[in-house]
Amino acid sequence: MIFGATGDLANRKLYPSLYRLYKKGKLAENFAVIGIARRSLTNEDFQSNVRKSVQSAVECSNDLEQFSSHFYYHSHDVTDSSSYLALKNLANNLDSHYKLEGNRIFYLAMAPEFFGTIAVHLKEDGLTDVAGYKRLVIEKPFGHDLESAKELNKQIRQAFSEDEIYRIDHYLGKEMVQNIEVIRFANAIFEPLWNNRYISNIQVTSSEVLGVEERGRYYEKSGALRDMVQNHMLQMVALLAMEPPIKLTTDEIRSEKVKVFRAFRPIEGEEVKTHFVRGQYAQGTVNAESLPAYREETMVDPQSNTETFVAGKLLIDNFRWAGVPFYIRTGKRMKAKSTKIVIQFKDIPMNLYYGKDQTLNPNLLVIHIQPDEGITLHLNAKKAGQQLDATPVKLNYANKGIDGINTPEAYEKLLLDCISGDATNFTHWDEVALSWSFVDKISQVWENTKEDNFPNYPAGTMGPKAADELLEQDGYFWWPVTDLDIEKC
Ligand code: BG6
Repeated sequence: MIFGATGDLANRKLYPSLYRLYKKGKLAENFAVIGIARRSLTNEDFQSNVRKSVQSAVECSNDLEQFSSHFYYHSHDVTDSSSYLALKNLANNLDSHYKLEGNRIFYLAMAPEFFGTIAVHLKEDGLTDVAGYKRLVIEKPFGHDLESAKELNKQIRQAFSEDEIYRIDHYLGKEMVQNIEVIRFANAIFEPLWNNRYISNIQVTSSEVLGVEERGRYYEKSGALRDMVQNHMLQMVALLAMEPPIKLTTDEIRSEKVKVFRAFRPIEGEEVKTHFVRGQYAQGTVNAESLPAYREETMVDPQSNTETFVAGKLLIDNFRWAGVPFYIRTGKRMKAKSTKIVIQFKDIPMNLYYGKDQTLNPNLLVIHIQPDEGITLHLNAKKAGQQLDATPVKLNYANKGIDGINTPEAYEKLLLDCISGDATNFTHWDEVALSWSFVDKISQVWENTKEDNFPNYPAGTMGPKAADELLEQDGYFWWPVTDLDIEKC
């Protein structure tokens, strides 16, 4: 059952992902999808919407009639028990028609204010009384801060146990985010170096070119800190910093990640100014197109104090990472759409070879998350010729080139994980709670102090100057993400 069946997420991601799974034979024929939303639609209209959404996302789509015949529509009032009872009847009928053995997944892809209400109704109105499994998939945001997240968790736990709750962080479904563990734990050359003796700093950037689009109302209350840092950015840091799990099981992996969250040094009070930078985009020109400032976007307060950019320095107080800064940076309306992780190794103790400017370039391991997918290792090698000069060289691995297939979209993987009952790539409540408690300390300071310099970066740039200074004060700089692209290497 997909709550929010007429929404953007369902149309852009969920239906095309279900279709791809269907084509790969992962759904067989005994499945049914009930699309649930407020407006009234016939099954036929709904099925035609599903076909359109698949056609606009998947190049070669056939068997669409057959696929969409599994889709049914229920017009719903989220606060009305009689509406849940009608839904239950429909679900029970489909259960016997498709022989579903009472297995149910409830996917909440809609406004977060209704998450708790829906979960409670599902139980009270008997939709969760099934012979098979019941699972709740819940989209972000999971609360607005720790308090509201606790409240929401309390509500959904009335109806679902922790291991039945699948909290989506779609970054965890990305191919190269999943690859972080493999790169680290399956290679003898990296794991021995993966600590404060050999790594000087780690930089995680997730920049977007798009602005806030039609989401001004949500974004005004969220900002980049809640929208991207609390979940996606901290999750990537946890995967980079965690200890090797004793087994590749959900519990073991999650428990190693939780330890990282617990080791984050809290940044609070005055330290927020020295460790975190916020930005908001001003007007700018990108490819000769003039773009509005954030404050001019629809549903945005013309005096808005909301950040559309965050850069920060995280410190992890444990044996492995003490002294190694993890710099994170994310924002809207930046120069490039790029998610990359740069691991910068320490300089060798003595430089025997001279490169350009009499220095050697540090070794870097770059993990390209998107749009390129791959790994680059930056080394120094001899420059061809008489002299013993060093020159930087790059070893590339690009996912697409090697595997020859398009990597599955994050939602496709996550949906299949949920159907198969694998919660590894979903966030456990402990991770959510700890990440909110880290982020809350920063947002409290930002909400209580107006940023006089807003807007402070023109659209189409890599963020405010203060973000560069954050690294300069430690003797580092942001490796320019666009120069690191695999295509340009
Ligand atoms: C979402 C945020 O979680 O992630 C959006 O709410 C953001 O604001 C998006 O645009 C970025 O995802 P991706 O996969 O395009 O990097």
